Amino acid sequence: MDLDQFAALRTPEGSVVLAAATEVAGGDPLVAAAALRSRGVPPGLAAAALTQAELRRRAVGKFGPEAAGMFLTRPGLEQATRRVVADRRAGRLAAAGVRTLADLGCGLGADALAAARAGIRVYGVEADPVTAALAAANAEAAGLAGRFTVECGDATAFDVTRVDAVFCDPARRRAGTGRRIFDPNAYSPPWDFVTGLAGRVPHTVVKVAPGVDHALIPAGAEAEWVSVDGDLVEAALWGGPLAEVPRRATVLRAGTADRHRPADGSPTCRTADRDPVAVHQLTGTGAAEATVGPVRRYLYDPGPAVVRAHLVAELAGTLDATLADPSIAYLYADAPRPTPFGRCLEIVDVLPFSLKRLRALLRERRVGRVEILKRGSALVPEQLRRDLRLSGENPASLVLTRVAGAPTVLVGRPVADGAGPG
Ligand SMILES: C[S@@+](CC[C@H](N)C(=O)[O-])C[C@H]1O[C@@H](n2cnc3c(N)ncnc32)[C@H](O)[C@@H]1O
Repeated sequence: MDLDQFAALRTPEGSVVLAAATEVAGGDPLVAAAALRSRGVPPGLAAAALTQAELRRRAVGKFGPEAAGMFLTRPGLEQATRRVVADRRAGRLAAAGVRTLADLGCGLGADALAAARAGIRVYGVEADPVTAALAAANAEAAGLAGRFTVECGDATAFDVTRVDAVFCDPARRRAGTGRRIFDPNAYSPPWDFVTGLAGRVPHTVVKVAPGVDHALIPAGAEAEWVSVDGDLVEAALWGGPLAEVPRRATVLRAGTADRHRPADGSPTCRTADRDPVAVHQLTGTGAAEATVGPVRRYLYDPGPAVVRAHLVAELAGTLDATLADPSIAYLYADAPRPTPFGRCLEIVDVLPFSLKRLRALLRERRVGRVEILKRGSALVPEQLRRDLRLSGENPASLVLTRVAGAPTVLVGRPVADGAGPG
């Protein structure tokens, strides 16, 4: 979308066309386009409206019902922070006393809108003129234009002395191609600018890829990894007084709060007109090492935020668990305990890996369906599933791993309600 097409969508006629596009979107695009043209809508406006309606449909998973009123671009939506994560970050900033925030590279404004909803005055800076215009329209649509304003320009030139906190979510995709950037030095704004912010503003938060190299985490910063319903979605580096601990794993469960609320006393937050979101946090140094011992009756598969935050030893401490191999993040314990930080399986058999022996065992147990977990094994689960030639009515969980360095397969079953997706 260019600025002219966006302006056309914002006229009264454009709003009518957008409403009509919303009705016909989601099916065959050619049929939808024909339906709009049959109403006399010019082809350019019809295409822009249909694209917008389609993006709004896709955005519901990230933003919920507010997506219906937002203006979006494909790259902007792909890079935008989902609402539960943005709300959580904004709540933490507000709780730390942040009143004014610069969002340096605000994109479509998902993070900025969350901060504004939390009562923070947000100054967004966005280099791309179309994205900047859409972010401003999103502020208006949300009724937050008085608290979130957008300036089109280079974030590196923003006078950060005007605010008491800075948030930066640098672009990690190349403009034009949309290809992911893995080297932080190629982020925009660049990594040295982003990490240098901590020396210029008291409170800083930088969103980074969850695969960020621990060696790049600035000394004194808190690194937080966030998962939502089991999916690892981002990491954030908190600087200055916002850095409370060296490492944090935050597990968000959208819509499943009630079931898990009492387990660890973690808070639950409710965002306006949404299901409650359960928030579970594990913190530590990221440097502790768990004790190594034998395979025990219950296996815990720590969730991705815990593993990436290097907090497996801290999780082991809460579960009275040990590793069976110093380099593999499966934990073993004598008792199952509900935890939001990983899945729990009861182990029924432990055998050195041998396809022949495993096949015989599963045949004897009449196992016809398996889920396959693996850490520390080069085996390809789909190939193994084919090679096992399963038949029978029973399910089983197979864990391909190493125990004290030896390739091992564990056969087990999930513990009912014993754990979560982490
Ligand atoms: C990852 S996106 C931000 C997404 C946003 N946090 C959200 O959740 O909607 C990064 C944005 O930074 C913008 N950007 C990159 N370099 C910039 C710079 N030097 N100045 C201002 N904006 C920049 C890009 O155009 C892009 O829209």
